[in-house]
Amino acid sequence: MSYTRVVRGGKVVTPDGVVDADVGIEGEKIAAVGPGLSANGADVVDAGGHYVIPGVLDVHVHLELPFCGTVSADDYRTGSRAGARGGVTTVIDFAIPYEGDSLSDAADNWLAKAEGKSLIDYTFHICVTRWDEHRDQIEGMVERGFPTFKEFMIYESEGWQSDDRALFGTLEKMKELGAMLLVHAESARVLDELIARHHTPELMRELGARLHAMSRPNFIEAEAVQRAVAWSEATGGKLYIVHMSTGEGADIVKAAQVRGVPVIAETCVQYLVLDDSVFGREDGHLYACCPQLKKPEDSERLWRGLRDGEVSVISTDTCTFTREQKAMWEGDFTKIPMGMPGLETLMPLTYTHGVLGGRLSIEEMCRKLCTAPARIMGLGDRKGAIAVGMDADLAVIHPEQRLTVDPGGMETNADWSPYEGWDLAGFARTTLSRGDVIVDDYAVVGVEGRGKWLHRTTGALGR
Ligand code: URP
Ligand code: ZN
Ligand code: ZN
Repeated sequence: MSYTRVVRGGKVVTPDGVVDADVGIEGEKIAAVGPGLSANGADVVDAGGHYVIPGVLDVHVHLELPFCGTVSADDYRTGSRAGARGGVTTVIDFAIPYEGDSLSDAADNWLAKAEGKSLIDYTFHICVTRWDEHRDQIEGMVERGFPTFKEFMIYESEGWQSDDRALFGTLEKMKELGAMLLVHAESARVLDELIARHHTPELMRELGARLHAMSRPNFIEAEAVQRAVAWSEATGGKLYIVHMSTGEGADIVKAAQVRGVPVIAETCVQYLVLDDSVFGREDGHLYACCPQLKKPEDSERLWRGLRDGEVSVISTDTCTFTREQKAMWEGDFTKIPMGMPGLETLMPLTYTHGVLGGRLSIEEMCRKLCTAPARIMGLGDRKGAIAVGMDADLAVIHPEQRLTVDPGGMETNADWSPYEGWDLAGFARTTLSRGDVIVDDYAVVGVEGRGKWLHRTTGALGR
């Protein structure tokens, strides 16, 4: 058998474990996995002394998102280049309808943002922001190849907030169609009250960005997770809790899963490696995101949830803002553009703090970053595993070699990093996307615009 490309001599992380093997690629697909593959006429990528893992899927990103009075600073060009450097070969963004837009318009808007710019493959979750207007458009979006939807329980001022009636109705539709609803779970009314109580000139002078955390105690997320789970249990509609940040959330999801509720949980890597002590820093406002960073004990509970199974996916919620954009807060914690850069450091952080930190095995890391997100999001027949017939999306990583995070040398448009100065292993020495080398020797070499939109079906959504 001949191959167009052979990835030679790596420790290959397959669904059956880590094996010393070559990966033979024919065109865009993996054609063979095994020792001593013939490289006759093939381009050879030397993976000796490295792990070869499946390309990572970051199933929660916001590229070029109009939000908080500005637009998130990584677009499909810089965002996908950043992802590729961290071994990410697929992103799933959120298409959010602008005022008056249908769900289909939202998908068209996001396709236009990605087309011609993305280095890696992509698709979108479709955001239902105005239930009465959008409810009858959901089925058509499933038919268009978008089987995952999203509702926000906060963000009234953005025009995105869904109430219980919308959540309940959408989950009924998810059940009927076999689709899945992603939910941003924070309890809006009590949160608004707590923000109002903390929003005084005196407290803002005294406590600055700490107020962001102080106004969002853990019960703000826990109550909302509990309520979303209740609607999933009542309707049978499939629910996916995005960016879960609390130990309480993990406990609620675990108990619900034991009862047979169809709920899946995602956390983000920042909730695993950072905590709310950052808000006491001079530049603490840079770290503001929703939900906000929590306590070290929450991080430890989430790591445990990843090991034990109630937390299925690690993503980033990439929503990049530069220092200048973050400066829009001018000392008022309610005006901080919410979100952080993340795509470039997802896998390095998970590898360094998870695998090298003794919290996850390399196989577990690949399940949480690759196999599970692919299966859950309906891409398990193409993405997320190294096996014959799958897309040749691969990352080659050195087991120990560390790079120091330096925003000046990164692909993201952010001029800062939450991890600046951290020494991280796990940056991709080589990244392949559908057989193309897009990162070589830690540098992006792929052609922008080569990334493809991924059609998905409800039948492919897994657990
Ligand atoms: O702070 C965040 N997370 N920004 C992006 C929007 C969201 O809630 O996911
Ligand atoms: Zn959110
Ligand atoms: Zn998000």
